[in-house]
Formats: sequence, structure tokens, C-alpha cells
Amino acid sequence: MEKKCSISRFAVGIVLAASLSVTYACQQDKPDASEVRSLTSMNSAVAAENTTASAMSGQELYTANCAACHSMRPPAKTAPPIVGLASRFRTVYGNKSDAVGAMVSFMKNPDAEKTSLGPQAIKRFGLMPAMAMSDGDLEKVSGWLWDQYDSDFDTGGGGNCR
Ligand code: HEC
Repeated sequence: MEKKCSISRFAVGIVLAASLSVTYACQQDKPDASEVRSLTSMNSAVAAENTTASAMSGQELYTANCAACHSMRPPAKTAPPIVGLASRFRTVYGNKSDAVGAMVSFMKNPDAEKTSLGPQAIKRFGLMPAMAMSDGDLEKVSGWLWDQYDSDFDTGGGGNCR
């Protein structure tokens, strides 16, 4: 039983809710708070290495993980709007795979030195927090972001998109 649980936990991977429900199913008693905490940190450690994408679309990943800060279009919330980012990354990288690579690398470990926006965006909005998402999902949402390019919102490389 024990063995089966840990195998299925790794097989299901990484989605916290799924792992927790396996845990609940395998234990007679509800785990106490400290157990939940240690499972949570174990899962985020695993998540950092996971390359498997979830079943969510890029649009759904945006809604769930990005929309709180990034509006689609101006006015900005607490981060540059998506159409401004799409325009900026198009200007800087010119092709989707390099742009996606830069976005994924930034979102895993945001660093002012690695910004594709220029220092004024970080000055205005602050540095983005790291995203605890699988590489597969980061790639999917980044590809979706690239596709949101809209010539009506071409910032000419500004990226700040007021
Ligand atoms: C808590 C708020 C917040 C969330 C959530 C958030 N971002 Fe950001 N993001 C920011 C801020 C602030 C900036 C501008 C400063 C910077 O670049 O770090 C930014 C910048 C960016 C950049 C440009 C990075 C650069 O500087 O080169 C990309 C791309 C991006 N976000 C994509 C996303 C995506 C995709 C998601 C969802 C998976 C997301 N962000 C979630 C706040 C957020």
C-alpha cells in the first residue's frame, strides 16, 4: 500500500491537488498541518524539475497564473499588459522559439539582469516573482503570449505599454 502510494504520487506528478488527494486516499487519518506543509515543499521541489505540461491550454494557464497581474491590453494592472509584452519580445527576438526560451528562463528565475523589457519596466512595476510551474506549462503559456501579438498595440519595442 505504502509503495503503491509513493509510486502513484510520482507518476501523477506534480499537480499539488492530485498528490494531496492521493495522500488523503492512502491515509486513514487526515494529515496534520505540518505534514501538508512538508508535502507542499516536496511537491514544489519536484515541480521545478518537471517538464510535463498539464492539460490546460495557454489561455487557461494565463487566466489561472498571470491575469491577476497582467491585463491583456492597457490599462496595466500591476505588470505590463500581454499585448505590450508580445510586441516587445517580437522586436527583441524576432522568432518565437528564442522569445519563448527567454520568457521561460526569466519566469523560472526572474532577474533584473535578464530582463527583455529594459530597466524602466522593473522600475515602474517591480520585479516579477518566480512562477512555480512545470517547464511544459511555462513553454505553453509563453508560446500563447507570443501569439497574442496585435499590431494595434505595437509599442515599437517599448514594452512598457501605458
Ligand atoms: C504577481 C504579479 C505577476 C504575475 C502573477 C505574473 N507576472 Fe509577469 N511580470 C510581472 C511584473 C511586475 C513584470 C515586469 C517587471 C519584470 O520584467 O520583472 C512582469 C514581466 C513579465 C515578462 C517580461 C519579463 C522580462 O522582464 O523580460 C513576461 C514574459 C511575463 N511577465 C510573463 C508572465 C506570465 C506568462 C505569467 C503567468 C504564467 C506572469 N507573467 C505572471 C508580474 C507578474
